[in-house]
Amino acid sequence: MLTEQSLAMSRRFGLALLSASVCLLFAPFVSALGSSCSAPLTTGQAQPGDPYWLQNIKHQGTSAFNPNSTYQVFRNVKDFGAKGDGLNDDTAAINAAMSEGYRCGYGCQSSTLTPAIVYFPPGQYLVSSAINTYYYTQMIGDARTPPTLLASSNFTGFAVIDADPYVPGGGGAQWFVNQDNFYRSVRNLIIDLRRVNATAPVIGIHWQVSQATSLINVVVEMSQANGTQHLGICSHISPKLIVAGKNGISVGNQQFTVRNITVNNAVVGINAAWTWGMGLVLTHACYVLTSWIGWTYQRVSINNCSIGFSLTTGGTTAATQTVGSEAIIDVTVMNTPVFVQTTTASNGTLAGSIVLNNVQLHNVPVAVGVKGGEVVLKGSSSSMYIDSWAQGNVYAGNDGVPQFTQGNIKPPQKPWNIIDSQNNIFGRGHPQYPDYSVDQIASVKSYGAVGDGRTDDTAALQRIFDMFAGCKLIFFDAGTYYITDTLYIPAGSQITGEAWSVILGGGAKFQDQKNPKVMVEAGAPYTIGILEITDIIFSTLGPAPGAILVEWNVKQPWDQQGGAGMWDTYFRYVRVLAAGCLMGLHLTQGSSAYLEGTWLWTADHDLDDPQGRQTSIFTGRGILSESFGPVWMIGTAEHAALYQYNFHAAQNHWIGFAQTETPYYQPIPPAPQPYSINSAYYDPVFNSSNPMAWAMYVVQSWDLTLFGKVIHSLRLTINYTQGCLANYTCQNGILNIDDQSTIMLYSVSTVGTTYQLTIQEQGIINEKYNRDGFQETFTAWSRSPY
Ligand SMILES: *[C@@H]1O[C@H](CO)[C@@H](O)[C@H](O)[C@H]1NC(C)=O
Ligand SMILES: *[C@@H]1O[C@H](CO)[C@@H](O)[C@H](O)[C@H]1NC(C)=O
Ligand SMILES: *[C@@H]1O[C@H](CO)[C@@H](O)[C@H](O)[C@H]1NC(C)=O
Ligand SMILES: *[C@@H]1O[C@H](CO)[C@@H](O)[C@H](O)[C@H]1NC(C)=O
Ligand SMILES: *[C@@H]1O[C@H](CO)[C@@H](O)[C@H](O)[C@H]1NC(C)=O
Ligand SMILES: *[C@@H]1O[C@H](CO)[C@@H](O)[C@H](O)[C@H]1NC(C)=O
Ligand SMILES: *[C@@H]1O[C@H](CO)[C@@H](O)[C@H](O)[C@H]1NC(C)=O
Ligand SMILES: *[C@@H]1O[C@H](CO)[C@@H](O)[C@H](O)[C@H]1NC(C)=O
Ligand SMILES: *[C@@H]1O[C@H](CO)[C@@H](O)[C@H](O)[C@H]1NC(C)=O
Ligand SMILES: *[C@@H]1O[C@H](CO)[C@@H](O)[C@H](O)[C@H]1NC(C)=O
Repeated sequence: MLTEQSLAMSRRFGLALLSASVCLLFAPFVSALGSSCSAPLTTGQAQPGDPYWLQNIKHQGTSAFNPNSTYQVFRNVKDFGAKGDGLNDDTAAINAAMSEGYRCGYGCQSSTLTPAIVYFPPGQYLVSSAINTYYYTQMIGDARTPPTLLASSNFTGFAVIDADPYVPGGGGAQWFVNQDNFYRSVRNLIIDLRRVNATAPVIGIHWQVSQATSLINVVVEMSQANGTQHLGICSHISPKLIVAGKNGISVGNQQFTVRNITVNNAVVGINAAWTWGMGLVLTHACYVLTSWIGWTYQRVSINNCSIGFSLTTGGTTAATQTVGSEAIIDVTVMNTPVFVQTTTASNGTLAGSIVLNNVQLHNVPVAVGVKGGEVVLKGSSSSMYIDSWAQGNVYAGNDGVPQFTQGNIKPPQKPWNIIDSQNNIFGRGHPQYPDYSVDQIASVKSYGAVGDGRTDDTAALQRIFDMFAGCKLIFFDAGTYYITDTLYIPAGSQITGEAWSVILGGGAKFQDQKNPKVMVEAGAPYTIGILEITDIIFSTLGPAPGAILVEWNVKQPWDQQGGAGMWDTYFRYVRVLAAGCLMGLHLTQGSSAYLEGTWLWTADHDLDDPQGRQTSIFTGRGILSESFGPVWMIGTAEHAALYQYNFHAAQNHWIGFAQTETPYYQPIPPAPQPYSINSAYYDPVFNSSNPMAWAMYVVQSWDLTLFGKVIHSLRLTINYTQGCLANYTCQNGILNIDDQSTIMLYSVSTVGTTYQLTIQEQGIINEKYNRDGFQETFTAWSRSPY
C-alpha cells in the first residue's frame, strides 16, 4: 500500500529526476501539487467580530525539556485576571501572566526552557507601572482588533513594556546582558502614553535586545504637548541618552535594521538593536538619533518634524564611538526643516558615512547639513528627489585609493523583480493570518505529532503536510519535534510556530558529511507556489555533520511577490560538542526567497548554562545561494566555519542588511576544518595565510546589491582572547568577489580585518583609510567608476 508519505517521496523523486534530465537553465517549473484536500486555503473564513484564531485554538503547546510537565506556554492575560476595560489596573495580572512558571527573569541570563506567549484579547489594559518582559517571550495582541496598553495618569514605571529592566538600586545593572537578550517579539499592540503628564519622560517600549527579536504592527501614541518628554521606543546605551533623546526616535546600540516606520508630528524615541521587520507607526515623533556601528533604514516616512535623522558624529576611536554608518533607502520626508543632520563636518577622516537612496523631499530646505554649520546638500522648499547620494570613502574596481565623496554616486541595482510598484524595495511583513478562522488551522499535536524532543515525529509530520498543505495553516504547537529523516514541505504550505517551535534533526542519517542529507526540504526542486514559514527554529540534536538544515527550492508564484519566504524563523546550532551541521540554508537555483529576520546562529555560548559559557561548535556553512532570484535577505548569519554567505551564480538579490561574525575559535583549527572542501557546494578557496571563514564570497553572480553590512572578525586565538582586534589583523580578507560578478556594496563596516574587500583573494580596500570608531567603514564600491 502506498502511504501518504511514500506518495510524497515518489512525487519528489519524480521531480528530481525530471530536473536532472534537462538542461538546468531551462528546467521547467512545475506548479505546486499541494495535497488533495477538498477545501483549499484561499481566503480567510473568520466572521466579523470573531477573535483572532490564536485566542481560541486548542492550547497544547509545551516546553519539551522543561522539568515541569504542566508548564504553560500560551497565557491569555484575561485568564490571569486582567479586565481590559480601561478602568481596572491590569498591571499585576499581566505581570503574573508573564512570570508564572519560574520563567527566566532577573538573575537568569538566558534559557530556552521557558518560552511563552502572553496574549491580549481586544480591550484597553490600564497599566500603572512597567510590564517587565521575561526572556523568550512573545507579547501578542489580537491581530484583528489590536488591543491597547493604556498607561494610567499615575504611571510610575520606566517604560510600559520593558525588555531589560534596571535592577532597583543596582547602579545601572539590568536583568539581561543586552547583546545576549534574544528571542522576543511584540505584535499588534497600541501603547498609549497620552494620559501621562507630558513632562514625564515615559517610554513606550524599552527595547534593549539583540538578535531574534521583532516589533510588528506596534503603534505608540504620545503627547503632542509642546515640550513633551514622551518617547516611543528606546534602546539606549546609557540612561543619559533618554534625557537627551526627548525629541526623537532615539536609537543607540549596534547593527539594526528598521523597515517600514512612520514618524509623525512631534517628539518621540525609538531605539533598538536587531529589530527586524517592523511595521511601526509612531505618532508625534521627531528626530532620529542614531549612534554606534551601522544602521540600515528601509522605507521610512517622516512628517512634520524638525529634524529627520540627527546623527552624532565625530568620534574616530573605539572610545569616542559615534555614528559609524547610516544607509537610508526609500524615504519620504515632508514639512521638516532638516532631513539629515550631523554634529560635525565630515572631511574624510571624521566619519559619519551616509548613503541615501530614493528619497522624496517635500518642503525640506536642508537635505544634509551640519549642526550649526554648513549645508552639505541643499533641499528644497517645494519638492526634490535624491536618487543616490553619499558621504564617505567611495571605491571602484581594483583601485584601493579612496575617493572621499559628498555627492551623487551610482545607484544600487534594483532588478525589476526586487522592487514594488512604487519603485521601493519590495517588503512584506510577517504574515499573521488575521482573517483565518479556527477551523482553518491544523495543529500538529492534534494529528499525531508529539513534540517532546524525543519521539520521532518524522512520519507524523510528513502525514500532516500531505494532508493539509495548501488547505490549512499548519500550526506547530509549542514543542520540539524530533525528526530523523528529511521532512518534505510541499509548495502551497503555510506554517507557523508557537513561541518558536523547534524542528530538531538528529540520528544516523545526518552523520556523513560526504553524503549530506537535507533535514527540511522546502518545496521540490523547480516548483512554484507559495510557502510561508513563521516563528520556527531549525536545529540539530547532537552532532549532525551531514545535515543541511533547510534546502529551499520553491519559487514564488509569478503574481505573488514575496510569496515564498520565512519570517522570524531561526537556525540554531547548539547543545552539541562537536560538529553542528554541514550547512544552514541552501537556496537552490530555481528558488526565490523573502527572508526577514532569519538568523542563522551557531551558538557561541550556551543559552541554558547559568554562566553563559562560550562553546566551540563547528557548523560548516551558513547560506549558499545559487538562486536566480528574486531573493530579499534582511537577516544574518554567524559563526560558520567556511563562510556565512556564499553566492554562486546567484542573481537578483537584495541583501538589506547583513551582520556576520567569524567563528571565535578560528584559526584553531584553521578553516575549513573540521569540514573538508566539497566542490558540489562551490566551496571557497582557503589559503594557509588566511585560514579563516569568509563572511561573504561571491562568484559569477549578477545583480546583487548589499546595502548595509557589518562584518566582525573576532578571531580568538588562544583561550578566547581578542588581541588581534587592536591591530586589525584578525584576518586578512573577509569579503571576496571574483572579477566578473556584478555586485554593488554600500555602507560596509568591518571589525578586525586588514582588507575589507578582496577581489580574487587579493586585497583591495585596506581598512587603514576607513577607521571610524569600533569599526572601519567604506561607503560604497562598484566595479566600474562612479
Ligand atoms: C509548573 O507550571 C505551571 C504552569 O505554568 C505553574 O503554575 C507551576 O507553578 C509550575 N511549577 C513548577 C514547580 O515549576
Ligand atoms: C493609579 O491609578 C490606577 C487606576 O486609576 C489605580 O487603580 C491605582 O490605585 C493608582 N495607583 C496609585 C499608586 O495611586
Ligand atoms: C505636569 O507636571 C508638571 C511638572 O511636575 C506640573 O507642573 C504640571 O502641573 C503637571 N500637569 C498636569 C496636567 O498635571
Ligand atoms: C513651545 O515651547 C517653546 C519653548 O518653551 C516656545 O518657544 C514655543 O513658542 C512653544 N511653541 C508653541 C507652539 O507653543
Ligand atoms: C508597513 O506598516 C504598515 C502599518 O503597520 C502596514 O499596514 C503595511 O502593510 C506595512 N508595509 C510593508 C510593505 O511592510
Ligand atoms: C502635518 O502638519 C500639517 C499641518 O499642521 C497637517 O495638516 C498634517 O496632517 C500633518 N501630517 C501628519 C502626517 O500628521
Ligand atoms: C579632518 O579633520 C580632522 C579634525 O579636524 C583633521 O585632523 C584631519 O586632518 C582632517 N582631514 C582632512 C583629510 O582634511
Ligand atoms: C594568500 O593570502 C595572502 C594573504 O591574504 C595573499 O597575499 C596571497 O596572495 C594569497 N595567495 C593566493 C594564492 O591567493
Ligand atoms: C587556557 O586556559 C586554561 C584553563 O584556564 C589553562 O589551563 C591554559 O593554560 C590556558 N592556555 C593558555 C595558552 O593560556
Ligand atoms: C597584532 O596583535 C597580535 C596579538 O596581540 C600580535 O601577536 C601580532 O604580532 C600583532 N601584529 C602586528 C602586525 O602588530
